[in-house]
Amino acid sequence: MKKYGWIKSIRASKALQFLAVTDGSKDFQLTVKEGTPISGDLKVGASFVAEGFDSVTPRGMYEFLVSDLKIIGASDDSYPIQPKKHSEDFLRTIPELRGRTKGFQAVWQMRHMLSQSLHQSLTELGYFQYFTPIVSFADCEGAGETFDVSSDWLQQKLTVSGQLHLEVGMMSLGKVYTFGPCFRAEKSTTKKHLSEFWMLECEAAHLDLDATMSLAELLIKKSLQKSLERPELLQMMDLDDAHIQSVLCKDWPRIEYAEVCKKYKLQFGQDVSSEIEAKLVAEYGGPVFVTRYARSLKPFYMKTGESPVVRVAECFDLIFPEVGELVGGSEREDSYEVLKETMESAGLDMDKMDWYLKTRQWGSVPHAGFGLGFERLLMYVCKLQKIHDAIPFPVSY
Ligand code: 4AD
Ligand code: MG
Repeated sequence: MKKYGWIKSIRASKALQFLAVTDGSKDFQLTVKEGTPISGDLKVGASFVAEGFDSVTPRGMYEFLVSDLKIIGASDDSYPIQPKKHSEDFLRTIPELRGRTKGFQAVWQMRHMLSQSLHQSLTELGYFQYFTPIVSFADCEGAGETFDVSSDWLQQKLTVSGQLHLEVGMMSLGKVYTFGPCFRAEKSTTKKHLSEFWMLECEAAHLDLDATMSLAELLIKKSLQKSLERPELLQMMDLDDAHIQSVLCKDWPRIEYAEVCKKYKLQFGQDVSSEIEAKLVAEYGGPVFVTRYARSLKPFYMKTGESPVVRVAECFDLIFPEVGELVGGSEREDSYEVLKETMESAGLDMDKMDWYLKTRQWGSVPHAGFGLGFERLLMYVCKLQKIHDAIPFPVSY
């Protein structure tokens, strides 16, 4: 039998060498007896092929008893990932190598699990994956924080959100989602902002605000449930599952923005700061949906509420412990006339955005959707201090 992998640490006793190794999916031990043929230098970081057979150590642990060992790719003492605890700050300086540590192997595997879980749950719920463009003119969030894509024949932007195109998909398939990279050029240096991040976005016809929040809650809970299926990943990150159980075990309350204003003495129309978000999750002891923000705080595409007293958007932000805003969603304006007016007063380039307005010209339907920041979800599950540790190659200001 053959085993392939990389050496993580080496320990020698009198007649035996024990190599802690990994094949990427799991760690195990190679036990090498004195006199076993070895070609190449045994060094931390080297790759090998070993011949031998499965066995059990005197303590009952799995081991691979080696009869022949070949180093395929040599390593040397300058290899930066030595068998000791390295700080995240240090590991962030070597993104090309940090995935070889136990902790990051676990984060990358968890990233795969959560991604698969979202695809699977949405497929089961009858949603189709729709493929929105990455190069696109539409500045969906209207904040103007876009990166340019330019060549001698193309002047475009990198997408900030797939939503507007996803609404086109909704008009053809009813229930759709898109999952891909989004780009924001804002000069943000917080622990939860990236310039390139992945967003899961859902959009469905005949969905109202409450149903949209329920969908977001269901999807996140299914993903969290999925993360519990691999307790060894949490162990590799030196975590238990208390933080996951604590949000799984309750319904997440829904509070109106106006109430938040009263509670924290904000002027109606003032933004909810991260400090207040932190107070909210502390007070409610877990995730909280804040709904119906002041209309002026939110982008043009959102539906305006019918309240005659205050102008609100039919929207929500899901505030999560540790990471703050995890999801933002809303009902969309579906009236052609109203949307035209809000687009014009938001100063959008109507020649370039006409295609979006046209989604409301023929067969418009009430619809809603949301966007979930995938790295922020991973940040919560893996208890990461910085969002930069939730994506293999972080790009940020
Ligand atoms: O709240 P946002 O900006 O909403 C939208 O873009 C909508 N068009 C989504 C939709 O309704 N389809 O972004 C959605 C989520 C945020 O709640 C946050 O989790 C994440 O995306 N996000 C970021 N994550 C990392 N770095 C950034 N710079 C992020 N900006 C937003
Ligand atoms: Mg938002």
